[in-house]
Amino acid sequence: MSNLVIRLATTDDAIDIAGVHQISREFAYRPILSEELLNAQTLADREKYWKEQTTLASFSDAEIYVAEYSEASDDARIVGFIVLLKHKDPNGFDSGDRVKGKDADGEIDRIYVHPDFVGKGAGKALMCHALQRLKALECKKAFLWVFEANTTAREFYQAMGFSTDGDRRQIKPYPHDLLYTRTL
Ligand SMILES: CC(C)(COP(=O)(O)OP(=O)(O)OC[C@H]1O[C@@H](n2cnc3c(N)ncnc32)[C@H](O)[C@@H]1OP(=O)(O)O)[C@@H](O)C(=O)NCCC(=O)NCCS
Repeated sequence: MSNLVIRLATTDDAIDIAGVHQISREFAYRPILSEELLNAQTLADREKYWKEQTTLASFSDAEIYVAEYSEASDDARIVGFIVLLKHKDPNGFDSGDRVKGKDADGEIDRIYVHPDFVGKGAGKALMCHALQRLKALECKKAFLWVFEANTTAREFYQAMGFSTDGDRRQIKPYPHDLLYTRTL
């Protein structure tokens, strides 16, 4: 997709990000999550959430990037997004099993691509951008958590240079996550 641009998200993107999040989550997690967990948040909930997140991002250690695809100059649409976090203290930023990145100090918190655009390079473009950005922020190692059952995403992460040593966590009522890391 040559006409794909990766750029920093703004609050004006919140509704489009929420739409991609909702449909991509449904696409990826229907085989993994119960109906109750899948439908725990409405599209309106997500719009509210992403309005807050895009507003807060400039005041926190989070950065949100969108992949914008256009066929003509006036029809740009958001087809994916990624959230990265720079953790100053990789082992001290949260307690318990909520977040754990071992000695990694850069986190890929979320990545979602609209199902119509899966397999066309948007995920790779977003991930490459995020990894470059974490490196520029002087992170040495990146980590992420993924549902163990999300084999598509796991294969994508492996293609992007991440690997796992099998370290798991569970945030109930969700299923187990696997930890993936890579050097930057
Ligand atoms: C995971 C996801 C972000 C990948 O994005 P994508 O745009 O489909 O990935 P790309 O087309 O950019 O693929 C990038 C590379 O990963 C590889 N890849 C992607 N999916 C793969 C799969 N299922 N099996 C093997 N390789 C895969 C591609 O072959 C490509 O490798 P290449 O560069 O050597 O050609 C996307 O599928 C998605 O949004 N899934 C639903 C949401 C989700 O599960 N998010 C992760 C939550 S933890």
